[in-house]
Amino acid sequence: MWVEELGSISTATTSAAVEAEAAPTAAAAGNGGAGEEATHEKKRKGWYSKAIAYWQGVEASTEGVLGGYGCVNDADVKGSDAFLRPLLAERFGTAKRHLVALDCGSGIGRVTKNFLLRHFNEVDLVEPVSHFLEAARENLTGCMDQGEDSHKAANFYCVPLQDFTPEEGRYDVIWIQWCIGQLPDDDFISFFNRAKVGLKPDGFFVLKENIARNGDYISSFIFPITHLTLQMKQDQMELPKELFAVKMYALVTSQPKIQNSGKRRRPKNSPRMIRS
Ligand SMILES: C[S@@+](CC[C@H](N)C(=O)[O-])C[C@H]1O[C@@H](n2cnc3c(N)ncnc32)[C@H](O)[C@@H]1O
Repeated sequence: MWVEELGSISTATTSAAVEAEAAPTAAAAGNGGAGEEATHEKKRKGWYSKAIAYWQGVEASTEGVLGGYGCVNDADVKGSDAFLRPLLAERFGTAKRHLVALDCGSGIGRVTKNFLLRHFNEVDLVEPVSHFLEAARENLTGCMDQGEDSHKAANFYCVPLQDFTPEEGRYDVIWIQWCIGQLPDDDFISFFNRAKVGLKPDGFFVLKENIARNGDYISSFIFPITHLTLQMKQDQMELPKELFAVKMYALVTSQPKIQNSGKRRRPKNSPRMIRS
């Protein structure tokens, strides 16, 4: 979310950005003509460069990307796992399928290494801070399972989300964890709208994010504008009390078309095939 003060960049643990939720960018754009727009764009650039400068000064470690709360890693992974499993079964059925995920704002590849690679055959990482992405590359080379049912980190993109458009139809899941607060609201919404093209027909987004104490701003104000359907929402449990609450959201572009058997569901009222 957009905040005036960048002393406190949104981290996994101390999301002053989420808490502050100051003026959304559309309001800042206003209707004051080119001058105002130029000021607004300057402010946006400043916002992004301060954020990147902040992360460039952070150690490429679990403690670093989790703002000194590396201890939440295990609970985080457990919570994500419990959230994702039923969704995968519901959306894709139990038939074997080559699954591909995108890890957004991947940092050092913590989420990919500890969680996504267990479920997906290929994971791509997108992260704007090069020393994090290099650490991810190193951290992930040792965990490539190269058997017949291989699981590997495939592509590493050093790009911020506001400039990233995924390859069309590549992903079953686009996982966005503890990084969307780095984007002003309008770029957050544009990212979701652009990234839809990256999903396979039954694919979905998962957003895992800190929630402001004064309400679920993301569900109330952001999701409706993305025209995505909120399929499932769950709280992350077992976090230290002093941290923000964290929620997981699954967002879909369509209702599931796959049954447990892996067969496509026949749309209601559509005629059965007549075999001669
Ligand atoms: C709190 S860390 C979380 C990292 C990782 N998702 C995890 O959970 O371990 C936030 C991450 O967002 C990245 N980030 C900062 N600005 C970004 C942007 N504009 N687009 C994408 N990622 C960004 C940071 O470099 C950092 O890796």
